[in-house]
Amino acid sequence: NKRIKIKKLLENDHIGQDATIMGWVRTKRSNKNVTFIAINDGSTINNYQVVADPALIDEDILKKVTTGACLKINGRIVASQGAGQQAEISASSIEVLGEADTETYPLQPKKHSLEFLREIAHLRIRTNTFGAVFRVRHALAFAVHKYFNDKGFFYIHTPIITSSDAEGAGETFKVTVLDIKNPPLTEEGKINFKEDFFEKETNLTVSGQLEGELAAMGLAEIYTFGPTFRAENSNTARHLAEFWMIEPEMAFYDAQDNQDLAEDFLKFVISYALENCKDDLEFLDKRAAEEETTKKADQRSEMGLIDRLKFVVENEFQRITYTEAIDILRNSNHNKKKKFQYLVESWGVDLQSEHERYLVEKHFNKPVILTDYPKDIKAFYMRQNDDGKTVAAMDILFPGIGEIVGGSQREERLDYLTKRMEEMNIPTEEMWWYLDTRRFGSTPHAGFGLGFERLVLFVTGMGNIRDVIAFPRTPGHAEF
Ligand code: 4AD
Ligand code: MG
Repeated sequence: NKRIKIKKLLENDHIGQDATIMGWVRTKRSNKNVTFIAINDGSTINNYQVVADPALIDEDILKKVTTGACLKINGRIVASQGAGQQAEISASSIEVLGEADTETYPLQPKKHSLEFLREIAHLRIRTNTFGAVFRVRHALAFAVHKYFNDKGFFYIHTPIITSSDAEGAGETFKVTVLDIKNPPLTEEGKINFKEDFFEKETNLTVSGQLEGELAAMGLAEIYTFGPTFRAENSNTARHLAEFWMIEPEMAFYDAQDNQDLAEDFLKFVISYALENCKDDLEFLDKRAAEEETTKKADQRSEMGLIDRLKFVVENEFQRITYTEAIDILRNSNHNKKKKFQYLVESWGVDLQSEHERYLVEKHFNKPVILTDYPKDIKAFYMRQNDDGKTVAAMDILFPGIGEIVGGSQREERLDYLTKRMEEMNIPTEEMWWYLDTRRFGSTPHAGFGLGFERLVLFVTGMGNIRDVIAFPRTPGHAEF
C-alpha cells in the first residue's frame, strides 16, 4: 500500500513526486477543461485538491465521483495554479472504491445541524466538525498518558464489573447472565435473568477509585483511564450513561498536593492540544464563533475558543472553600431567583449548576477549585476535617462546563472511616478489603476523577457532550 496521507503531503514539498492518495470526496466542480475534486482522508481537517483531466480520466468514472464516494487516486504532485493551495495532485488514474449515491447519501455538501448529525452517528465522523473533534479527543487521551508516564505514575486497569458502588449514588447498571440458547422464561413468557454468576449482585463500575486506592498503597502513584457507567436519567448536555474517567490516586499526597497536581495536569493536557491540534482548533474556534452569533447578547462569551484555552493555561485557578463560596453567593445581588435564595439561607446544601456558573463565569471569570464541602453531601471516603462539619473534598469548576473534576484527600484513619461508613449505612464487612488498606500500612493519600468528555467538551468548544464521544450512550440511545 503506497498510500500517502494528506497530512504528510501538506507537511513537506512533494512537487514532482508520484503519489497515491485515498479518501472521501468532499466536493467536485467541473468546467469543460478540467474537474477539481476536494478529497479528505481523515488525517487532517484539510482537503487535498485532485485535478482530473477529462482527456485522461474516463467520463463514466468522473460521474461516480460524488460527495461521499471513496477514491484511490494515482498521480503526480504539481504546483497548484489556484489560490487555495500550494500543491495538488494531477490524476493519472482514479479508482472509485465505493460509490455514494447522491439521492440517498445524507451528507450532501451543505450545513447540517448537530441534532441531525447525532441521528446519523455512524456517518457524522466523516464531517469536518466531527473529524476535528475526534482528532482533538485522541490528542487529549495521548496527552493524559504522556503526562502521567512522564511523572512516573503507573496505569492501572480497574475492573468494569464490580460488586461495589464507589460513589454510593445507587445509579448503577446491573450485570446479569443470560443463556441465549436456553433463556429461562417467567410464567408470562418474559426472560428471567440469572443473577448468580458471581454469587453476588454485580454492576458496571461507576468509578475505579476504590481499586485505584488499593493500587496506590503498593505502587504509590497510579492512574486509571477507563469507561465508567451511571444509570442516572439526566438528559442534559453534560451527562452520559457511559463516559470515560481518568482517576489518579497518590500515596503521600494531601489535599493541597492533590489540587496542585490537578491544576498542573489540566494545564498540561490543554497546552498539548493547543500545540498539537492547531488546524483542528482553528476550525473549531471559527465554528464556535459562528455558534456564538446565534446566542442572546448577554450569553455570548467574550473570548474565542483558542483564547479561552490559552487563558486557562496561563492563569492560576481560583481556590476557595465551600463556605467562602456560600458567602460570595449570599452577598451577590446578581440574582434574586428562588434557587439562589434557598441556597444562601442554608449552609450545607449542594451547589446547583446555576451557582457554579455564577462563581466561575461571573464572579471569578476563571476556573475555580472549590474545597472543603459539608461532609453530608460528599462520599464516605473523603477525609474529615477538624471542624467536624466538612471534608477535604475538591471540585474543579470550568467556565461553560461546570464540574470537570471531583476528588479529595481520603480518610486514612481506620476508626474515622469505619465510623463514617456506619453513619452512612455502608456495610463495613463487605468492604473488608478496602478497610484492610487502613489496617495495614495506611498513609495519607488523595486522588481525583476527571470526566474525559467534559474535558473534550471544553477544549473543542462543542456545546453538547453527545458530540464529543463517537457513540454516545444516553437514555434511549444504544443502537450504534
Ligand atoms: O465527581 P465524581 O462522581 O467523582 C468520582 O467518581 C470519584 N470517585 C473520583 C475520584 O476521586 N477518583 O465524578 C468525577 C467526574 C466529574 O467531575 C465529571 O467530570 C465526570 O466525572 N462525570 C460525568 N461525566 C459525564 N457524564 C456523567 N454522567 C458524569 N458523572 C460524572
Ligand atoms: Mg462530583
